[in-house]
Amino acid sequence: MKVAIFGTQFYEREYFNKYNIGQKHELVFFDETLNIKTINLAKGFEAVCAFVTDAIDKKCIKKLSEFGVKLIDLRSAGYNNVDIESARNHNIKVLRVPNYSPQAVAEQAIALILTLNRKTHKAYNQVRENNFSLQNLMGFNLFGKTIGVVGTGKIGRAFCSIMLGFGCKVIAHDIKENDDLKQKGVKYKAFEKLLSESDIISIHCPLNSETNHLFDKKAFDKIKKGVMIINTSRGAIINTEDAIVALKKEQIGYLGMDVYENESNLFFRDLSQSVIQDDLFGRLLSFNNVLITPHQAFFTKEAVTEIAKITIKNFTDFEENEVLENEIKL
Ligand code: NAI
Repeated sequence: MKVAIFGTQFYEREYFNKYNIGQKHELVFFDETLNIKTINLAKGFEAVCAFVTDAIDKKCIKKLSEFGVKLIDLRSAGYNNVDIESARNHNIKVLRVPNYSPQAVAEQAIALILTLNRKTHKAYNQVRENNFSLQNLMGFNLFGKTIGVVGTGKIGRAFCSIMLGFGCKVIAHDIKENDDLKQKGVKYKAFEKLLSESDIISIHCPLNSETNHLFDKKAFDKIKKGVMIINTSRGAIINTEDAIVALKKEQIGYLGMDVYENESNLFFRDLSQSVIQDDLFGRLLSFNNVLITPHQAFFTKEAVTEIAKITIKNFTDFEENEVLENEIKL
């Protein structure tokens, strides 16, 4: 099958070519992200392969359908950037990689927590300047703290297990409770209860119409003063403007983000020689208790290998009319 791969990242050609065993599929890599401005690049392809940076809205889907594209294969778990209903109406299948390595993302959430707490990023720089003072480096024990987990799917569950290992009390909120977690001692709570009881809150639910700006002024008014909030899920689950107000009031004590609601203008490229135009992002960077990583939670050797393997398998399943086990159905 001839596939247009959009928004190709520097590492992806190597991994995709490696797992495209026998060059079964004709893979054409584009650096451009897929959106209404670049949609014409998809002409002549049966399938497009998209990433989190691509914006496949209703207009794009209509164009893809006109070009004869039959498959959108996402090399990500989240699918908030595709109009699934519109794809269904145009008889275009949408597949994804639902389970490539929940541990990769959960472990990044832990990295954010430990760095924000124990300030290893600051200590690293300080020691290189021969400053061995402990001033400003005090952290807190994780042992015994209450961790609130929003979304206990694959990643949330992996995260809960690690936090239980630290000796934390883990509470959770999800629209569906998980019995295994309950047996391990995790207690499910209403969202408001989780907000008021947690010392650290980690977000692991998908972005959808219900979770868009779930963390807004109303939510921040209910959190314990000085709480740590970690978001490795999708940026728009946090209302950034409200988070900035809560940071200024010291209501949020620490904020760790691997995702940011306007990240599509920034992330996955080197802008070190550019002037950043996003003032909201600039304000976030000005807080010394905010740590931002550039959507790298998925970025481990194991996860990238699985993403390549499963994405190629999705192409093959579609081409050979196999059962589409990774199809997104609403
Ligand atoms: P999953 O589908 O296994 O779990 C999501 C959980 O969230 C489910 O248990 C679901 O019931 C729950 N949920 C849905 N709506 C909710 C709501 N309103 N309130 C509370 N819980 C709700 O998904 P998985 O694999 O755990 O991934 C979670 C998210 O992580 C993805 O949707 C994606 O956005 C993000 N992600 C981020 C990555 C990164 O590199 N930063 C990489 C992979 C995923």
